[in-house]
Amino acid sequence: MNWGNIDRYAKSLIKEAGHIIRNSFFNQIDIDSKADVNDLVTNIDREVEQFFISRIKRDFPEHRILGEEGFGDVVQTLDGVIWMLDPIDGTMNFVHQKRNFAISLGIYADGVGMLGYIYDVMRDDFYSAAKGEGAYLNDERLPQLEITPLEQAVIGISASWLAPNRYVDNEKIMELVQHCRGTRSYGSAAIELAYVSAGRIDSYISMRLSPWDIAGGMVIAREVGAVASNMQGEAPHLLGQEPFIVARPGLHHDILTNYIRMKE
Ligand code: IPD
Ligand code: CA
Ligand code: CA
Repeated sequence: MNWGNIDRYAKSLIKEAGHIIRNSFFNQIDIDSKADVNDLVTNIDREVEQFFISRIKRDFPEHRILGEEGFGDVVQTLDGVIWMLDPIDGTMNFVHQKRNFAISLGIYADGVGMLGYIYDVMRDDFYSAAKGEGAYLNDERLPQLEITPLEQAVIGISASWLAPNRYVDNEKIMELVQHCRGTRSYGSAAIELAYVSAGRIDSYISMRLSPWDIAGGMVIAREVGAVASNMQGEAPHLLGQEPFIVARPGLHHDILTNYIRMKE
């Protein structure tokens, strides 16, 4: 497998998809909802996923694609090469703000993250990484993350997890929020993973993420020394929804052991 070629190919595909998304603002965007009324999807989410799939199937017919909008393959094992794609991560932001969304793509070989990309389309910020070769924001290499104690940490977390919910003990999350320096919520898991990797926030926590939300970001985060796991501290299985935490080393262990109490 020539990963250098695949890397160049994927980067240019993502840039092209960025053009499609930016141009979509000149036309009417159709908005639907999926699992619930706040789970939005647009014709552009679908068009962009179909664009990726037609190209990847043409040029890498032996690879499989796991895409959020369901136009790819039914993926039940991580065997072989799998492209894990979220064509627009942060669709609510795409619809309401026309910014703060990203294309997220991870390319895995037998379950190992080889290439990862997060493209913040409107800022034209391109985060990328190849396994063992460091992570980049545009052409600049991102430095290794250093240890930060909780009292100096800014945590990416949605306010939903502070309200009573069926996944996690919200009172422990309230303690976490009181003990850290501050919190932020950007509304795109991919962008939050990119921000952890770039040292802008120190952790990102969510109780329900899908493989396409985290696949690209995990490759990038690992290259700068961030630790990503489920709430048992295990590597995410990437075959369905699961709780997720990524953080600087040290902080990851502190938050998991002292502040996260899952209900199931
Ligand atoms: C969502 C965003 C959001 C996260 C949700 C995801 P989507 O992805 O990443 O920040 O909280 O869990 O589903 O639906 O905009 O691709
Ligand atoms: Ca998503
Ligand atoms: Ca999406």
